[in-house]
Amino acid sequence: MLSESSPTYCFLLNDRIVAAAAPSGQLVLDFLRRHRRQVGTKEGCKEGDCGACVVLVGELDDDRVRYQPITSCLMPVAELAGKHLVTIEGLRLASLTPIQQAIVDEGATQCGFCTPGIVISLTALLLQEPVDFDPASVRRALSGHLCRCTGYRSLLASGEVVRRRLEDAGVGHPWDLERLIDDGHLPAWLAEAPSLLRSIQSADGSPVGPTLEQDAVAGHPWRVAGGTDIYVQRGDDLARSAVEVLGRYPEMRGIHRADGHLRLGALTTFEELTHQPQVLELIPDMAQHMHWIASWQIRNRATLGGNVVNASPIGDMTILLLALEAELAIRRGEDMRQQALATFYKGYKELELEMDEVVTEICLPVRDPATKVHFEKVSKRKTLDIATVNSAMRLRLQDGLIAEVGLAAGGVAPVPLFLKNTAKALVGQAVEKATVHLACRLAQQEIAPISDVRGSADYKRMLVHQQLIAHFCQLLPQHFSVGDFL
Ligand SMILES: Cc1cc2nc3c(=O)[nH]c(=O)nc-3n(C[C@H](O)[C@H](O)[C@H](O)COP(=O)(O)OP(=O)(O)OC[C@H]3O[C@@H](n4cnc5c(N)ncnc54)[C@H](O)[C@@H]3O)c2cc1C
Ligand code: FES
Ligand code: FES
Repeated sequence: MLSESSPTYCFLLNDRIVAAAAPSGQLVLDFLRRHRRQVGTKEGCKEGDCGACVVLVGELDDDRVRYQPITSCLMPVAELAGKHLVTIEGLRLASLTPIQQAIVDEGATQCGFCTPGIVISLTALLLQEPVDFDPASVRRALSGHLCRCTGYRSLLASGEVVRRRLEDAGVGHPWDLERLIDDGHLPAWLAEAPSLLRSIQSADGSPVGPTLEQDAVAGHPWRVAGGTDIYVQRGDDLARSAVEVLGRYPEMRGIHRADGHLRLGALTTFEELTHQPQVLELIPDMAQHMHWIASWQIRNRATLGGNVVNASPIGDMTILLLALEAELAIRRGEDMRQQALATFYKGYKELELEMDEVVTEICLPVRDPATKVHFEKVSKRKTLDIATVNSAMRLRLQDGLIAEVGLAAGGVAPVPLFLKNTAKALVGQAVEKATVHLACRLAQQEIAPISDVRGSADYKRMLVHQQLIAHFCQLLPQHFSVGDFL
């Protein structure tokens, strides 16, 4: 719905600056297809699952633009203000790019419906620094895409062709935009993007366009962080409405250390968390865990704050944050308060959060370097699926005894569950098999799973038992192996 009262957002669409008059909640996908008639970006599931709608969104970072692939079916237009939107139309060059040519040569397209999104995600790999086109990266890029015709082997083969071409030409290491353009991988106008984006920033670096207050006058303001939950739940309502885009509060972004805490802005995305050095110290396998959490395209948008506030009993990040005994910084107007995540959930989707309160930061106490954390997830499908049961354990030993434990499990209660009794009973215990059995026994007393489409209550109890053993084996490999518990 375009109306005279719709605010106008200024951004770069491929090679030109556009001004979009749209309700702030309008989907980028709808804007492209219905209002710009750029229909190369496809509409499939409209729930973030198929990848047909993937576009590149770039943000100015000093003298460079950082691009990420995201699903345009879950992103509001207001979020584009001051950014660069690259669509498949923008990749229509004089001849096929090496990625497009490889897809043709390897027979990796049939009906072609999934192809534009896939080309965009593979092109996104060329815009990461340094370029990594190895099979693992290609798989990561394809993780958010469904193809019903061709199968993925030919797509992986296309990736390999491009990898060899980059390697033979010595392009990508170090990252060099000009070389990628000269070699026909990317459009020449990408080199102009930083200066064009600068031309639509205000003096303070914020995008020119309506203020948040002006956005909100057009209707009821919904609150959107990454949009990967709320647009799935309420997409039809939001697309016609005014929304409060939390991404426009810079103070809710970034990660820093203060007051004995690692303070994660509530807008920290799953993908940002994966590369955060201090988080990696605590959770060395973070990147590995992320393979089982959403897709690259969703992780580029999904935020920690959104995961905590949507209160899903199986939110993966929430379970991890509970085991880390996170605290939430919550703002209402000018007032701030702190709330332990463990006491944030009152019942199914019931929170200690008022309508006018916003979670601004998630604060993790800085731990002894000997503290380690492990995460486990079992779902019906290995990737791009919500958990049947997930769990996380934080553990530190001192003088051969367990000195510190944090334990949380999802899918076993109406809320993400902090297993406080089990954790408390483990402190001071010796590192021996009997302690693992004690943990398994006590955890069963704290959980209350129900049977549903994801599994029976008995199955979920068994998963908690097995995941606890896995935590001990992974965190204390010098003491335990899976074979000890067969
Ligand atoms: C295809 C797909 C796969 C997914 N896979 C997974 C998965 O594997 N694991 C998983 O845990 N989740 C998964 N999700 C769910 C979703 O991505 C996460 O829950 C994500 O963390 C939600 O964050 P968001 O920023 O997108 O939330 P949004 O959708 O923007 O917001 C969710 C709710 O929280 C509110 N909110 C958001 N931030 C704040 C804040 N700072 N303060 C107050 N209120 C706030 C919003 O108003 C809204 O009501 C998946 C989603 C999709 C679409
Ligand atoms: S339309 Fe399927 S992910 Fe967007
Ligand atoms: S080629 Fe038809 S869906 Fe992929």
